[in-house]
Amino acid sequence: MTIKVTPSGQACGATVTGIDLSQPLSDETVSEIRAAWLKHHVLSFPDQSLTDDDLERFTLHFGPFGEDPFIAPLPDREHIIAVKREANETAPLFAENWHTDWSFQEHPPAGTCLYGITIPPMGGDTLYANQHAALDAMPAELRAKIEGLQAIHSAKNAYAPDGSYGDADKAKGRSMDIRPSSEAEATQLHPIIRNHPETGREGLFSCIGYIAGIDGMAQEEALPLLMELYQWQTRDEFIYRHKWEPGMLAMWDNRSVLHRATGGYEGHDRLLHRTTIGAYRQAR
Ligand code: SIN
Repeated sequence: MTIKVTPSGQACGATVTGIDLSQPLSDETVSEIRAAWLKHHVLSFPDQSLTDDDLERFTLHFGPFGEDPFIAPLPDREHIIAVKREANETAPLFAENWHTDWSFQEHPPAGTCLYGITIPPMGGDTLYANQHAALDAMPAELRAKIEGLQAIHSAKNAYAPDGSYGDADKAKGRSMDIRPSSEAEATQLHPIIRNHPETGREGLFSCIGYIAGIDGMAQEEALPLLMELYQWQTRDEFIYRHKWEPGMLAMWDNRSVLHRATGGYEGHDRLLHRTTIGAYRQAR
């Protein structure tokens, strides 16, 4: 099967057509999709009709499942979480801050798959920021400030009991089943500038959403630097705005892009099913 890949014309992202993901995929087709994913960083597959089995099978073509902490999976699916919001919900939006999925893990997920089930008639776009483009265009003075630094990643600001999805969030009537834990206090170092594990291309990894400090640097110096970096990482010219449709699957590369959810669909339900693709291991 030869798929058709149409670039978004924005900073990253492409639409893939000519494929039915509810059917078994040949090795050749999987290789074509992987090549397009590595090139465009975010792929969308419109007009699909996928069961949870199909979503799991698709995910496993690209690696093992990732580990998804702090959010309960669907009752009958260990590796699928529901990203959902009910029409009358007033809790803050889920995932509205720029982030890279689970970058606080030792081996963060290579990618994420998100399948649109109930999509509101307006709003609810997902934004992606291309972190290869952000590094390529970075002014030399800013690059010199971050060269060689290791970021301290942590989930604590989000998922610790006193974090934004912590105990106080429970009272806000959120429909997603988020499980805060003191395990979110753990920290993990990753270089701020690093080579993509598959393509070798240099990029910026993650952002202040899950970065709590810089190794060996006082917080008074680290936080303004992380904010300066964040302002650069999320400039308009690096962004792709993804518009959802029911039956659309998106697949993004967490090693290349930041992402965030957006609102603007008050009074409407939104439901998507999500899996993560575990870290890429050369020997697989
Ligand atoms: C996510 O970050 O996984 C969710 C993005 C979205 O809801 O648009």
